[in-house]
Amino acid sequence: MKLIKLSNINQIYAQGKTVIKVFNNLNLDINNQSNVGIIGPSGSGKSSLLNILGLVEKPKSGDYFFNGQECSTLNVEDRTSLRKKDVGFIFQNNQLLEDFTVLENIALPLILNGVNYSKAINESLKLLKLLGLEERRKFKPGLLSGGEQQRVAIARAVIKKPLLLLADEPTGSLDDSTASLVFNFLLDLSQKNKILTIIATHNLKLTKRLDKCFKIEKGKLIEI
Ligand SMILES: Nc1ncnc2c1ncn2[C@@H]1O[C@H](COP(=O)(O)OP(=O)(O)O)[C@@H](O)[C@H]1O
Ligand SMILES: [Mg+2]
Repeated sequence: MKLIKLSNINQIYAQGKTVIKVFNNLNLDINNQSNVGIIGPSGSGKSSLLNILGLVEKPKSGDYFFNGQECSTLNVEDRTSLRKKDVGFIFQNNQLLEDFTVLENIALPLILNGVNYSKAINESLKLLKLLGLEERRKFKPGLLSGGEQQRVAIARAVIKKPLLLLADEPTGSLDDSTASLVFNFLLDLSQKNKILTIIATHNLKLTKRLDKCFKIEKGKLIEI
């Protein structure tokens, strides 16, 4: 079974009097357990695509099958619960919560999914050890470096073992060597947990380890 199937997706945004057609009958088929890159310059529609895949936005028209389920007919509550259970997100700015420790930030998705606090914290600690950031567990995120914060954000996205991990320019605000470290960490962790990972990036240097890459052109995806 295909984990992801987009068929004939159209997406249109209005900006004042201008109408922008971001996707024009876009199609995509992806099986389980691969690493997929979405490459394209700023404004080409990478974030819009991830938002559709992550059930954050609905396309104007077209069908989205996620893990065998047709999603365009789901109501907001069902979309939200599917997202909470099966989708992890990583953003360019890590969006960690400053009121919580590093350990709690990573544990939060489990707690929100009903796992009890001490079990969630235990799982978080295991991931922090893998990250080599165990001694930072009581720190607030703001005290970590950019690369460390991004590794914490990756751990937070992976802890619930989602079916789909979406990373929107996850290394966009890091220097080159930190970017490749974080990128490799992301792929290692997603492979280890057998998570389909889709990464939007405009950094072509990082795409060598990906199984498949697409570019967005004229509102469609083209494999490169
Ligand atoms: N909510 C929105 N309202 C209006 N225009 C939008 C919205 N989201 C994205 N766009 C427009 O759609 C195009 C693609 O945006 P985006 O998906 O953010 O591209 P990328 O992530 O590749 O930079 C851009 O022209 C952007 O301005
Ligand atoms: Mg973007």
